[in-house]
Amino acid sequence: MKLLLVLGILSALSVVTQCKSIQSELDRLYPPLEGNPSSHEVKTFLTRVDHFRPQDTRVTRFTYTQKADHFRQGGPIFYYVNDAGIFTTIWLDTGLMHDIAMEEGALLVTSDHRYFRNNTPTASASFEDLAHLTAEQTMADIATLISILRSENPYSSRVVIWGSGYGATIAVMTRQKYPHLIDGVWSSSGIFAPGVYVSDTYAYLEDVIKDIGGDECADRVRGAFDEMENMIYGGRGEELGEIMNHCTPVNVTSDLSVASFVKNQIDFFTQYLNIYHYHGLLQICNEIGDANTPPLNALADWIIRTFLGIECFNFGYYDRVDLARNTEWNQPGTISGLRQYYYLKCTQFGNWEVTSPFSDLFPHFVRDTFHYYMCNDVLGENYDAALLYDSVETLRLIYGDLNPRVSNVVYTNGEMDSWFPRGLQESYPGGEIINIPFYAKSADLRSISEFDGANLRSAKERIQQLVSQWSQY
Ligand SMILES: *[C@@H]1O[C@H](CO)[C@@H](O)[C@H](O)[C@H]1NC(C)=O
Repeated sequence: MKLLLVLGILSALSVVTQCKSIQSELDRLYPPLEGNPSSHEVKTFLTRVDHFRPQDTRVTRFTYTQKADHFRQGGPIFYYVNDAGIFTTIWLDTGLMHDIAMEEGALLVTSDHRYFRNNTPTASASFEDLAHLTAEQTMADIATLISILRSENPYSSRVVIWGSGYGATIAVMTRQKYPHLIDGVWSSSGIFAPGVYVSDTYAYLEDVIKDIGGDECADRVRGAFDEMENMIYGGRGEELGEIMNHCTPVNVTSDLSVASFVKNQIDFFTQYLNIYHYHGLLQICNEIGDANTPPLNALADWIIRTFLGIECFNFGYYDRVDLARNTEWNQPGTISGLRQYYYLKCTQFGNWEVTSPFSDLFPHFVRDTFHYYMCNDVLGENYDAALLYDSVETLRLIYGDLNPRVSNVVYTNGEMDSWFPRGLQESYPGGEIINIPFYAKSADLRSISEFDGANLRSAKERIQQLVSQWSQY
């Protein structure tokens, strides 16, 4: 086994050298983002533990980061809503909003979602202590911080907020609730109309691979997953684990272990497209296209070359549960935010991705029950999965589903993003939809570049125009 691993790493290395020129081409189109933390001021603010029970006066101190390099007195405030579990300050240093901030003299600010990283309002992450981890509490934190920023900068009455994915969803909902504090919102690949279990994202990814990657590429992907399925049904978990460089054999007698394993293989596609978009898909198709290599081996080679940072992958269901079940802060599952991420999705947002029995590329192993058990195993016996249906229904009811009626919003959607079917599709008075073909998630966050396709370029110019408009008195 050891020898196999060493050989695997060696052969991976030689292929990496071969592929350097392709990688450098992708890096030229999408250069790695560079931050400048030395210009950041990390500050704190007080916020309520529970915003909605007037008799509960407990407060907690949260951190936020601001960058005032381009700020001119009276300039607007641009606030980036971080996604749950993603902690980035990169958009204070680079990207489209940073560039607009330079022109408008804006103060750039971001903070982490409550219960993530330093923003922990309770003693532990027990199921009971996580009770105040809701979208509504998070939005109230944002409103609190914006009020404080505005009182510290009394001439800066204009506020524009933006986010990506779930962060964009929260940004839009926050203006819906607090229109007196926020003048405009840019939702980049925001997700709307939540469901408990959703099968349209993987189905859409499948269409993207077929329509843009082409029939040959789709055949290779289908071939790889067919073989994976054969090995699972054939009881060949050890062989499968070795091919895919998994740390342990795949436990093919456990539906949950199989689901966890297969889900992560599908998600590699999404991850890659979200970084490299159209060129990324061509790249995948190119790398798995060699007809002399069986499709599953070709897929494994590509995954290992591209994603393997450590010795082997571990997508074990029970390992993940163990990680996310620990309720103490300063444990890997809470530092990474994995436990909190599960709580948010298992109790309020749903949107659990499942495969479809009608799928033509991906085997139907990622089912409702996988997520159902995961939520139960992670959150414990006091959690009631049946309530998630009501929570999701309530979200749709309160925030307007596909008809949010919130004004001064620009929604951008990448047409290669697997969440595209869950984005808003139709403009309405005050809400402008811009769909961007040949890009996946949030390509528009980056600065305008000479390599931008025409649609991406014009989307960015329109965002610039609207944000500047919202930034004026
Ligand atoms: C595989 O899964 C089955 C069913 O959950 C379980 O009983 C068995 O102990 C697992 N095997 C290993 C090696 O973990």
